[in-house]
Amino acid sequence: KQLSIIGVPMDLGQNRRGVDMGPSAIRYAGVIERLEQLKYQIEDLGDLVISRPTEEKGKKDNLRNLDEVAEGNITLAQEVDKIVEQGRFPLVLGGDHSIAMGTLAGISKHYENLGVIWYDAHADLNSGETSPSGNIHGMPLAVSLGIGHEKLTNILDYQPKIKPENIVIIGARSVDEGERELIKEKGVKVYTMHEVDRLGMSEVMQESLEYLEGRNVDGVHLSLDLDSLDPEEAPGVGTPVMGGFSYRESHLAMEMLNESEKITSAEFVEVNPILDEKNKTASMAVGLMGSLLGEKLK
Ligand code: ARG
Ligand code: MN
Ligand code: MN
Ligand code: MN
Repeated sequence: KQLSIIGVPMDLGQNRRGVDMGPSAIRYAGVIERLEQLKYQIEDLGDLVISRPTEEKGKKDNLRNLDEVAEGNITLAQEVDKIVEQGRFPLVLGGDHSIAMGTLAGISKHYENLGVIWYDAHADLNSGETSPSGNIHGMPLAVSLGIGHEKLTNILDYQPKIKPENIVIIGARSVDEGERELIKEKGVKVYTMHEVDRLGMSEVMQESLEYLEGRNVDGVHLSLDLDSLDPEEAPGVGTPVMGGFSYRESHLAMEMLNESEKITSAEFVEVNPILDEKNKTASMAVGLMGSLLGEKLK
């Protein structure tokens, strides 16, 4: 099995600096060495160059740094497109969650019916119209549905990237009003913390996989925002929300995804080493990648 790693030092999708250092922090936490222990042939593509505005440009249509975020995502989409074309598994290291727009743009054109697991405290289903912050990292899932500014929805000149019925959101506990409406209107499947508490992670993952199988997906992308975990366990994130997943729940989830053999691409986002404690959050990300990609005692 062949895997390509690409870092995306993007922090323009939100307003706390430092998440652009996420790829470095994840590399420092030993991602390459860790995954080399598994049965992958690894190609490290390094980090993309993201052009940064030298001054805060302000918001246009309630979209902070729209042009730069769009530009960075087009570059990412082109790189991911090449990786998938070569039959390799893309593993994308963020960077803020706005990069999911580029990742999905590059991946989805190679699938008829891509499924997405969105493992996150948030739904990231805002648009300029509904966003309380103007931060594009709160919008990538909506953008991938074709909702939002044309510069974002039309990356690689096609849209939508995914169907609402092919999404499962897991871990949501901070969802804005406009996002709630969209979830209802589009029928997006969501497991909030309430369901995870009632059913347990094992049942939630099993149901999620069965649901996607019932949708006849021909691939599944995992988009994992580290703020899905509890801030005690993963403090290095820009938008922490109390009451998140434990280390054990998340490793179980990753192991079940590995056993299912359904995951065809993944990204790990929102690691911010400036806000972290001794690179704990990057280490958490690397551990979860290990479980997702087959680390297991037996
Ligand atoms: N819903 C909030 C917003 O739109 C927070 C989004 C957080 N997203 C993230 N990828 N961490 O601003
Ligand atoms: Mn192609
Ligand atoms: Mn989040
Ligand atoms: Mn997110």
